[in-house]
Amino acid sequence: MSPAIAALAETVLAAGELRLEPLRPSHAEGLFDGLADPTLYRFIPQQPPADAATLRARFERLAARRSPAGDQAWLNWAIRVPDHSYAGLVEATVGSSGAADIAYFVFRRCQGRGIGRRAVGAVVAALAAEPAVTAIGASIDTRNAASIALVEALGFERTGLIRNADHFKGGPSDEFRYQLPLRR
Ligand SMILES: CC(C)(COP(=O)(O)OP(=O)(O)OC[C@H]1O[C@@H](n2cnc3c(N)ncnc32)[C@H](O)[C@@H]1OP(=O)(O)O)[C@@H](O)C(=O)NCCC(=O)NCCS
Repeated sequence: MSPAIAALAETVLAAGELRLEPLRPSHAEGLFDGLADPTLYRFIPQQPPADAATLRARFERLAARRSPAGDQAWLNWAIRVPDHSYAGLVEATVGSSGAADIAYFVFRRCQGRGIGRRAVGAVVAALAAEPAVTAIGASIDTRNAASIALVEALGFERTGLIRNADHFKGGPSDEFRYQLPLRR
C-alpha cells in the first residue's frame, strides 16, 4: 500500500456537518443496530451481522487497512451525524494497480436526506485527489435504484452490464458497472 493511501485510510473526512471517521473496532457498538437491518442487503450478497461481537471481529480485520495478502488496501469510514450517532458506512477497496471500488450503507432511518450523496461524495473526492488512485468504480445490482441514483448524482458513468454477475438470495443478480471519469 502506498504511504499516501495508508495516510488517507487514517484521515477523518468532513462533508458539511457529517464527519467520516476511519473505521475502528469500537465502532461496532454504534453501527450494529443500523447494519443489522436486513433491508440494507436486498441487492447485495452480504447478510446482516449476526451480533455485535461478530461485527466487531470483522471491524478488527478491517482495521488492518489491508488484505492478508497485502494486495488490497481497505479504507472504511463510519458516517457520524451532528447528534453524534452514526448514519452508515462507506467502504473503498484499492487494488495493487490503484483501482478503487466503493460500496456504502446508509441506515434506513437516515436514508433519503442526502447523507449518502454527501458522505460517498467526500470519500470519492478524497480518492480522486490521490494520484496513486488510478480509477474509481462501483458494481451495482440493476434493481438498486437508490444506489444507481447516488453514483449518477456523483458523476459516475455506466460502462457496462454484466448479466448473471452473481447469484444470491434465491435469484440471479445483473450488475451495472460504473466508473468515475478522473479529470486530472
Ligand atoms: C444507496 C444508499 C446508500 C443511498 O443513501 P441515501 O442517503 O438514502 O441517498 P441520498 O439521500 O444521498 O440520495 C442519493 C440519490 O439517490 C436518490 N434516491 C435515494 N433513494 C432512492 C430510491 N429509493 N429510489 C430512487 N432514487 C433514490 C436521491 O433522490 C438522490 O438522487 P438526486 O441527488 O439525483 O436527488 C441507501 O439506499 C442504502 O444504504 N441502501 C442499502 C445498501 C446498498 O444497497 N448499498 C449500495 C451497494 S452497491
